[in-house]
Amino acid sequence: MKNVTRLALVDPNDVSRAALKTLMLGIDTVWLDAECSRYEFFTDVVLQSQPDLALVSLDSNPQKALELIARVHAEVPNCQILVLSSSQEGSLILQAIRGGAREFLSQPLKLEDFLAALDRVRQTASTRSGESGPTRNCQVITVLGASGGVGCTSLAINLGCCLAQVPGRSVAVIDLDLALGDADVWLDIIPDYTIQDVADNISRLDYSLLKRSLTKHDCGAFLLPRPVELAAQAPVTPDEFRRIIALLKATFTHLVIDLSKSFTPLDLAAMDVSDSILMVTQLDLPCLRNAVRITQFIQRTSDLKDKLKVVVNRLGLEDSQISMNKALETLGCPVFASIPNDYGTMVEARNNGVPLLTQAPRAKVTKSVQQLAVLLDSHSGDSEERPDDKKAARRGLFSFLGSGAK
Ligand SMILES: Nc1ncnc2c1ncn2[C@@H]1O[C@H](COP(=O)(O)OP(=O)(O)O)[C@@H](O)[C@H]1O
Ligand SMILES: [Mg+2]
Repeated sequence: MKNVTRLALVDPNDVSRAALKTLMLGIDTVWLDAECSRYEFFTDVVLQSQPDLALVSLDSNPQKALELIARVHAEVPNCQILVLSSSQEGSLILQAIRGGAREFLSQPLKLEDFLAALDRVRQTASTRSGESGPTRNCQVITVLGASGGVGCTSLAINLGCCLAQVPGRSVAVIDLDLALGDADVWLDIIPDYTIQDVADNISRLDYSLLKRSLTKHDCGAFLLPRPVELAAQAPVTPDEFRRIIALLKATFTHLVIDLSKSFTPLDLAAMDVSDSILMVTQLDLPCLRNAVRITQFIQRTSDLKDKLKVVVNRLGLEDSQISMNKALETLGCPVFASIPNDYGTMVEARNNGVPLLTQAPRAKVTKSVQQLAVLLDSHSGDSEERPDDKKAARRGLFSFLGSGAK
């Protein structure tokens, strides 16, 4: 299946059909090929338009609709059928699935439910056709720091910009450091909207409204900034945040989330929905001590442990006291990538409000962020071990404390 999914829908009820149509028109990875108000005409519609997906609403006449599903399945086997009903009766679901339906969704259809079903159908379709293997539609990367000022925002922004360089990509950076985030400074963006606007409109949030809330930078990446005003309470709940991410995943190929350093419920929700958690650390004692605690926390959490990727930032910083080998030993897990220390270039890029790619395309620090982007892509969808994993076998936390620095 291609990036855009072609869809035909049938629903004899004018009101719910109009709502479905509005929902579909708001998703720019879905192309609404045809809408039909009569079950008896729908097979012809599907035969003619050959959509990737058929959405069949059962409620007006379940019996007719079930017969239709079987007919469409027999006559257009390549078309995946999604079924929609306000009834969740087991026998109805069973008949629909036996007739050839792929997914059974509840009416009224929630956008996130539809997007999740779409994701599943697309993944199976691409696996079957062997087009590009079991592709991920969107890679979600969270950037988490072992300490303040460790370089999370620098890396999140520049990683987003590097990822956005590949044609066909669409990248959004989300600043989840709601109190003190400064992602907008790094990109010299004065945003019209922030995550607060998204939060204020959460109940009527659709794709186009969400997209309007993002600001596009010249490098190609979009930014969803933190709220302008400091508030005691987070603007969105974790569930609402998951909804925002589900919507963003429908259009963007990559989401990079810059977390706060507080392990708030929102940070945890972001880690939960992400494919990779980049834990950024430097090689000094306070950072490594926290890096060990974070690693232990993540490894204790079954849903997170395969996502952890350690990134050592500012490698070569003169006053860092601990060697890479000691750090590996301490962490008990491999270093996924390391970024050299280059304060001058980093600060100049930030002060000019441009990404490293523009500021210093040939600098080592820029190249290493580019490599990180490539590495993340090559690891997307798996958590296979890297060759030096074994070297980094756990050999006692804090062992470096006894044997001293490098
Ligand atoms: N690889 C690097 N080399 C040198 N300085 C860096 C590097 N990465 C980040 N910095 C600097 O570290 C400081 C803190 O970075 P920042 O990204 O704001 O950290 P965080 O978001 O974790 O608080 C900034 O002044 C930035 O320029
Ligand atoms: Mg930051």
